[in-house]
Amino acid sequence: MSSAKLTLNGEEYELPVVVGSEGETGVDITRLRGQTGAVTLDSGYGNTGSCKSNICFINGEKGILRYRGIPIEQLAEHATFPEVSYLLIYGKLPNAAELSDFREKLTYHSMIHEDMKKFFEGFSHTAHPMAILSSMVASLQTYYPEEVDGGEDPNIIRLMAKAKTIAAYAYKKSIGQPFIYPRNDLSYSENFLHMMFAVPTEEYAVPEVLRQALNVLLILHADHEQNCSTSTVRIVGSSQANLYASISAGICALWGPLHGGANQAVLEMLEQIRDDGADYKKYVAKAKDKNDDFRMMGFGHRVYKNFDPRATILRKQADEVLTKLGINDPLLEIAKQLEEVALNDEYFVQRNLYPNVDFYSGILYRAMGIPTNMFTVMFALGRLPGWIAHWKELREDPGARINRPRQIYTGPTENDFVPLDQRD
Ligand code: CMC
Repeated sequence: MSSAKLTLNGEEYELPVVVGSEGETGVDITRLRGQTGAVTLDSGYGNTGSCKSNICFINGEKGILRYRGIPIEQLAEHATFPEVSYLLIYGKLPNAAELSDFREKLTYHSMIHEDMKKFFEGFSHTAHPMAILSSMVASLQTYYPEEVDGGEDPNIIRLMAKAKTIAAYAYKKSIGQPFIYPRNDLSYSENFLHMMFAVPTEEYAVPEVLRQALNVLLILHADHEQNCSTSTVRIVGSSQANLYASISAGICALWGPLHGGANQAVLEMLEQIRDDGADYKKYVAKAKDKNDDFRMMGFGHRVYKNFDPRATILRKQADEVLTKLGINDPLLEIAKQLEEVALNDEYFVQRNLYPNVDFYSGILYRAMGIPTNMFTVMFALGRLPGWIAHWKELREDPGARINRPRQIYTGPTENDFVPLDQRD
């Protein structure tokens, strides 16, 4: 199949068809308006391919997720987060020398400029860490304004290395503890946990079970093709805005409860159910009631209509981590009961609503001692290499154009200005 036919107002038009490497088919409507005067309408972009990309493949019907062709299950089991970041950003698994160089750079660029620490003083101690993260990431540009065309972009390394320090500092700020500097002898995940949980007065060794769990969590969140925040990064980047500005915008998009903010919302929902007598069936009924705006947070996905492979990995991981840490969390019990009821309920079955990645990530973060308002920051740290990879792909695409959708206008037709004293 190389073209599609469209009949509009009695005229027939031929539209080219593009087929991706996994057989996904797209009707190319780039010239539709010029040819026909019409645009397509796809609110929420559920059927719109916004770009060609070779970074991430998802098959929502079959529950497949691959980064650069490699199944997420294999990466979660065998890889480290820096390895996966390299894979996403530079397009291939690093060899030993490349990985060691990349790790070293991620470590040696971890500190943020001492002057930037003063920014934290200005934030209220109640500031949401996502607000701090997005502001600080945008502010990095003021310290590293140079843009690099071609070759290795040091801003990519800086951003990857410093984001975890900013995130941990945001947490320390919120609890009024002194900032803990990164340590060059620690791995990416260890360093983050060290900056989060160490205090100057005590020795702190990162527990292996936490390091391992964090590594998997970060890998599972590392990319998810054209989701809301990644599309935001691409839209902002398409105006040739710098890396820091584009990623800061992505962080803001991720914050919302329908996207990355869902992990915080899941935990708050589970707590609400627990405090309300653990009557989870009442909440399933509320989620089904169209007159009630309560949604079952952590359920449903725009793309996965069978199961979310990340949720499958995390459910197992959550069980393992809680067992190893000897935690008996009633919220996990409520989560499992909710899952069972919902999976067997006609409303959820008919709409293909399954637990998504956020349903279990919150339980894991909680077991790791990470406070609820930091959950979405954790998602952002994981998603960072994906955002960077998409920004880089866009900037290296010679055919890239500024993103500028059209609309179907439904407002008033032309009418005259009415002076103030003559208005109703
Ligand atoms: N609880 C109850 N009903 C739901 C839910 C839910 N969580 N999700 C979807 N529905 C219903 C919805 O009311 C609609 O019903 P009907 O056909 O009768 O009108 C139907 O299912 C389709 O929903 P939709 O809103 O058209 O689906 P969408 O593809 O636009 O939205 C979603 C996807 C993820 C925003 C949505 O499922 C949702 O709000 N889920 C809860 C928030 C959440 O967990 N978000 C995290 C997503 S995964 C992490 C990430 O990638 O960000």
